[in-house]
Amino acid sequence: MSITYKDAAGIEAMRVACRLASEVLDYLTPLIQPGITTGEIDRLAAEYMKKQGTVSATIGYAPPGYPPFPGHLCTSVNQVVCHGIPGDKVLKKGDIVNVDVTVIKDGWFGDTSRMFLIGGEDAASIQAKRLCQITFDAMWKGIEVVRPGARLGDIGHVIQTFAEGAGFSVVREFCGHGIGQKFHEEPQVLHYGKPGTLTELKPGMIFTIEPMINAGKRDIKEMNDGWTITTRDRSLSAQWEHTVLVTETGYDVLTVSEGAPPPPAFIGATAGSGA
Ligand code: MF3
Ligand code: CO
Ligand code: CO
Repeated sequence: MSITYKDAAGIEAMRVACRLASEVLDYLTPLIQPGITTGEIDRLAAEYMKKQGTVSATIGYAPPGYPPFPGHLCTSVNQVVCHGIPGDKVLKKGDIVNVDVTVIKDGWFGDTSRMFLIGGEDAASIQAKRLCQITFDAMWKGIEVVRPGARLGDIGHVIQTFAEGAGFSVVREFCGHGIGQKFHEEPQVLHYGKPGTLTELKPGMIFTIEPMINAGKRDIKEMNDGWTITTRDRSLSAQWEHTVLVTETGYDVLTVSEGAPPPPAFIGATAGSGA
């Protein structure tokens, strides 16, 4: 398989799917409170997807070598890096949780995730807050370099430099990905790398940037459920994800909605224009 370049109609369809994915997170945000279970978040999301006319891309998802994923979304708590399975885990004050939503609308996939501090800023440890903030900024550092002529290695490089400069580590085993009428397409978007290397970005490419950053070492392990990935050293892990379009002059973040956190201050007013 190869990289697919989206035409105007494909881009508009992706805008819709991506906005709807982001709106699932908007809907869930006030509900993600101490005492809720990850399974209840899943149930509420499934209900909301039905209302908005989308289908979860994760429920039943079974790439080669994996059992079907049992959730409508992923809930990854504390030391869970990614692919956490919703269930009876009760969220408590001070937990950090990634909720990763991928929906399908008219055959097009939108994929986005955010971190949540359970019980708010005051309940989180200084380290947990810093990890979530650095990971958010790392995602945006990667987004910021997206423009025609840049290379995938440039994205990985800025993310790695920023995260490691903050004293954290970058998970290597999972990466961003092309997305469109398939969940995971080419190219792979590594969150580490060297400037000027790998595939050149061209207008019409759409891919995710979704760095997984650990407070401790980068090593991971897989749980016996065949999906859940945790840090090997049990340190905290955070992740943010946007789906991004390469435009003629820069980038356009597609997974946006009213409740999506605004870009960090280092992203200027002409963001995305390539100016
Ligand atoms: N949404 C994840 C991603 O960003 C993939 C989740 S696959 C699942 O690529 F099966 F674990 F849900
Ligand atoms: Co993704
Ligand atoms: Co995702």
